[in-house]
Amino acid sequence: MNAPEKPSLLSTVELAPRDPILGVTEAFNADQNPRKVNLGVGVYVDDNGKVPLLECVKRAERQMTEKQSPRSYLPIDGLATYDREAQKLVFGDGDIVREGRAVTVQALGGTGGLKIGADFLRKFSPYAEIWISDPSWENHRALFEAAGFKVNAYPYYEPATHGLAFDRMLAELDRVAAGSIVVLHACCHNPTGVDPTREQWQRIIEVVRRRGLVPFLDLAYQGFGEGLEQDADVVRRFAATPGPLFISSSFSKSFSLYGERVGALTVVAASKEEAARVLSQVKRVVRANYSNPPVHGGEIVASILGTPELRSQWESELAQMRDRIKSMRQGLVERLRARLPKENFDFVLRQRGMFSYSGLSKDQVQRLRNEFGVYAIDTGRICVAALNSRNIDYVADAIAKVAA
Ligand code: LMR
Repeated sequence: MNAPEKPSLLSTVELAPRDPILGVTEAFNADQNPRKVNLGVGVYVDDNGKVPLLECVKRAERQMTEKQSPRSYLPIDGLATYDREAQKLVFGDGDIVREGRAVTVQALGGTGGLKIGADFLRKFSPYAEIWISDPSWENHRALFEAAGFKVNAYPYYEPATHGLAFDRMLAELDRVAAGSIVVLHACCHNPTGVDPTREQWQRIIEVVRRRGLVPFLDLAYQGFGEGLEQDADVVRRFAATPGPLFISSSFSKSFSLYGERVGALTVVAASKEEAARVLSQVKRVVRANYSNPPVHGGEIVASILGTPELRSQWESELAQMRDRIKSMRQGLVERLRARLPKENFDFVLRQRGMFSYSGLSKDQVQRLRNEFGVYAIDTGRICVAALNSRNIDYVADAIAKVAA
């Protein structure tokens, strides 16, 4: 008799669940409904329902084509001009930049910045635990767990008020073990759209520093809240206090360059000399992950940020995107008020950035999808930046029907 065949390695692999955000786009793409609307993923679309190619990007690309630069490897930490400009965007012309205490490396989107930071932290602080907000961007937990960390959550959102659970958040942070890594959303909290006030941030900064926690700021939406300077305010205030600071920046949304994977990791150290040591280790992490970043997107961003004319064009295109999102928020609330006069949707106006934590339940989200082809995240997060004058009435009708 033959011995029973051993299962092969791959025959034991289980089917993974779809990604909670990008999996929604997969389902959306497969849907044949001509009226379908994707409010799942955080992507800005213009009033024609298209992801815009910004004019400043077109101009920068034209200049790049004319130059016909060769495509050798970039340095491990990326294009030097990109790193410099990305750092200046975060800190302005502040002391940090002048003192050389911060190091910035080009990364594969904001996710790449988080991953490099996570791998670095795991190497130098292997026993630390991570604290993310409850709720947080779904990939935060996955990413830090994949880096080997235990991930916990601090209270953040208060469903009853659609606001911040500030006292509970602060009390929890005050109990967290020294050396723990606290992931904070610098602006436009994803998924809730609820940000602390200036005064609340001051108290958060005070607790984080007093308890010796390590802040890791996710800055994925700079320019989508109130403006480039205002949205970086928290980062600058953290940087003005002693202690290490990690920042992951993303330019996916602000330059509408999602597929170019443009982001950065910045680490603030105590001195220029400490920063140089940190950089040498961050470069080892990059080299062992993907060797060095790609050229194209990095050149576009560096050229726009470094050329005054392109920069001011970018700032005005970014302001247009920000204003359009705000008008869509307003438009959605007005339509929902008209359809459901007994409900109060004012909280949507207080939220900032691309998203609204709508309060829709998982069942209501399923109904939106199955009955109307309107796709949202199971948690009820909707991307307000995907609304436009053609789909907003349809979406408001659909929400009103499932929420009635
Ligand atoms: C989102 O939250 O939808 C975006 O940040 C896209 C992503 O990678 O999840």
